[in-house]
Amino acid sequence: MSLEDNLNKILIIDFGSQFTQLIARRIRELGVYSQIISHKKINNHILKTKNIIGIILSGGPLNVYEVKKVKFNKKILNSKVPILGICFGHQIIAKEFGGSVNKSKVREFGLANIKRIKKSILTRNFFNRNGLNNVWMSHSDEVTKIPKGFKVIASSKNSKFAAIENKSKNFYGIQFHPEVTHTHNGKKLIKNFIFSICKARRNWSSKIQKKIIINNVKNSVGTSKVICALSGGVDSSVVAKLLKNAIGNNLICIFVNTGLLRKNEEKEIVNTFKKRFKFNLIYVDAKSLFLNKLKNVSDPERKRKIIGKQFIKVFEKYSKKVKNAKFLAQGTLYPDLIESKSATGSQSSKIKSHHNVGGLPKKMKLKLVEPLKYLFKDEVRKLGLELNLPKKVIFRHPFPGPGLAIRMPGIITKDKIKILKDADEIFIKSLITNDLYDKIWQAYAALLPVKTVGVMGDNRTYEYICLLRAITSEDGMTADFFTFKKDFIQSVSNKIINSIKGINRVVYDVTSKPPSTIELE
Ligand code: XMP
Repeated sequence: MSLEDNLNKILIIDFGSQFTQLIARRIRELGVYSQIISHKKINNHILKTKNIIGIILSGGPLNVYEVKKVKFNKKILNSKVPILGICFGHQIIAKEFGGSVNKSKVREFGLANIKRIKKSILTRNFFNRNGLNNVWMSHSDEVTKIPKGFKVIASSKNSKFAAIENKSKNFYGIQFHPEVTHTHNGKKLIKNFIFSICKARRNWSSKIQKKIIINNVKNSVGTSKVICALSGGVDSSVVAKLLKNAIGNNLICIFVNTGLLRKNEEKEIVNTFKKRFKFNLIYVDAKSLFLNKLKNVSDPERKRKIIGKQFIKVFEKYSKKVKNAKFLAQGTLYPDLIESKSATGSQSSKIKSHHNVGGLPKKMKLKLVEPLKYLFKDEVRKLGLELNLPKKVIFRHPFPGPGLAIRMPGIITKDKIKILKDADEIFIKSLITNDLYDKIWQAYAALLPVKTVGVMGDNRTYEYICLLRAITSEDGMTADFFTFKKDFIQSVSNKIINSIKGINRVVYDVTSKPPSTIELE
């Protein structure tokens, strides 16, 4: 049993809502541990768990009158702890305790104004002085009769029972979504539920996470050696630093220089981890190997496959040299684990074969250590700060596994890599000096495989086009291009053209994702 299992927690039962993770994040942001479990996974172990202090039933895409399809162990509703149902969860509460749910006469999607009907602990400091609030709704069914013992807390024009409670049993249902930022004071409602109703105490912070993870790692790994593929990205860096604190020199990191990294990245990684933090780091210079394998390859998918395969080969070769290695550390995050992500049954089609240092082969027969598997990305960043990792490492823009290879459509050559590294460095440094870097989710320079004519001084030039891309995004799934002021983009363009031989034209990518992707290949 891991230490998380001993923490008091709010259990979120997921019925497939796209916002379930947001509920968990809001609770954790308030300093309380919360865990998501799919409605299909409520088993006896869960039912007997002593430290569940409250339950939230999430929204979901199903209809409550098809509740037979929504299989879940209803004993969870008799757990004798407070329950809050959100949207579909609200309808489950109404239905299961004797009320009714039907198709809405008028569906509500987007903002709705609700009115207080009765005071409740749940909605303390939630409504404005006139007893009104704007909330975010997304439903086509509605509660049409509330169960015995329940009272109405709030109504909207189209939802008479927008919020209900059974105060003596501590059951609450709300048709709207308090977890999304569009619901005004939504976090206050969640805070009221967890602290005033569930009587939670703060038990979740980076300090606590660090202590728990280090203890867990020590217990599970013992005196064996652990191998970790260090890429220098935030997840693998935080994993490595946690393991270093837990098991010292029994952690062996392998860093593969593919030759496709950003300018000076390998030096920075060696300086940070080997020199500053005294890591046991195997540095593998595989630049020529990767360049040879990629010779004359221009197809994006082939590039990705070659890089992925070679990476694994190199990693396997060097990990075999580590005696007594029994574990492989990976930076799996909590969102990767939540199975109910596919509760709607949808499967996205393959756009690109992502290569990740985390995806190492099963045949290596190493047991996995996944110390971040209970954390969200922002929690990983906070933990990185707690571990004294440099801010530069923690807040660095994401960088794809195949590196510069996919920012250079067409064939890859040593010369092109050099040109691209220099251009990228100018762009990124300019973003930093102009305080723009942190406002942007990801930015990079790419080299297009097209030469165009230019004029420099009195001479004709015939050189490559450099493409700049800078986007804003929440999670990389969708993105919009960042709007720069003319002065800034012009000065970056000038710097690139004046200082890099090989580029005589700079263009800025103004597409969003979709229809484009963030990377070029
Ligand atoms: P796309 O280009 O798919 O990129 O819109 C979305 C995000 O994923 C990153 N990316 C990758 N990350 N291995 C990675 O670890 C990959 O193969 C890979 N391909 C794209 C990309 O940089 C962006 O942040």
